[in-house]
Amino acid sequence: MNLMLLGPPGAGKGTQAARIAADFGLLHLSSGDILRAERKGQTELGRKAQDYMDRGALVPDDLILAMMVDHINRPEAQKGFLLDGFPRTVPQAEGLDQRLVASGKRIDAVINIVVPDAEVTRRLTGRWSCPKDGRIYHEVFSPPAKIGVCDDCGTALTRRKDDEPGVVSQRLVTYHTETEPLVEYYGRRGVLRTVDGSVDADVVTASIKKACKE
Ligand code: AP5
Repeated sequence: MNLMLLGPPGAGKGTQAARIAADFGLLHLSSGDILRAERKGQTELGRKAQDYMDRGALVPDDLILAMMVDHINRPEAQKGFLLDGFPRTVPQAEGLDQRLVASGKRIDAVINIVVPDAEVTRRLTGRWSCPKDGRIYHEVFSPPAKIGVCDDCGTALTRRKDDEPGVVSQRLVTYHTETEPLVEYYGRRGVLRTVDGSVDADVVTASIKKACKE
């Protein structure tokens, strides 16, 4: 099975993707996480992406498409993958469709996680994450047992630079203008499922699992 999570920044894509991928035995492919790893490794792609990411703008389609298709074609993705944060524009979706058709694959379900802008802002400005294992926390909604420290590995938690309020509002503008048209794109293809992402994270997980079986 191949799945895709769609939704605004802070909808809970990363939180839910980790749970769904583990439950369904899928490879979790987060374009944001892959880009942050490229930045950390100071690769050419990482250097090119840095400025766009810091501004809350999208990294150019050709760079993203090549990066994600490379990961989708790796052996560890052959049992199924879950896309998180990709595609994010209609040209990226069209490019992905072409590559999937050429390799005899398809996306079985696209889960659109709906969350209002005010809630997104509240979530992102309170987000902390573990730089070592990627676990995501929120200082109010899902705090770690000990403030500032990962429950699983004891590493000091960090905040993302693009979670500053000014950048969050720019990311929302980018989402509504460039990414939201994908709701209609995948709706026309009959694979779109919509879930309410504004409720408790466990309830969202249950809704996504149910939607995947429809
Ligand atoms: P990326 O890392 O993909 O960021 P994003 O899509 O903006 O999504 P986030 O990771 O911010 O949020 P999320 O939906 O995963 O929410 P989370 O689970 O963390 O992209 C970053 C940048 O990379 C982009 O701006 C762009 O520059 C570039 N980029 C990436 N992909 C690209 C592409 N395809 N094309 C071009 N450029 C690209 O949850 C958020 C918070 O809420 C957490 O604190 C969490 O604990 C909390 N939370 C989650 N669920 C709930 C709940 N149900 N109730 C209460 N709190 C909750």
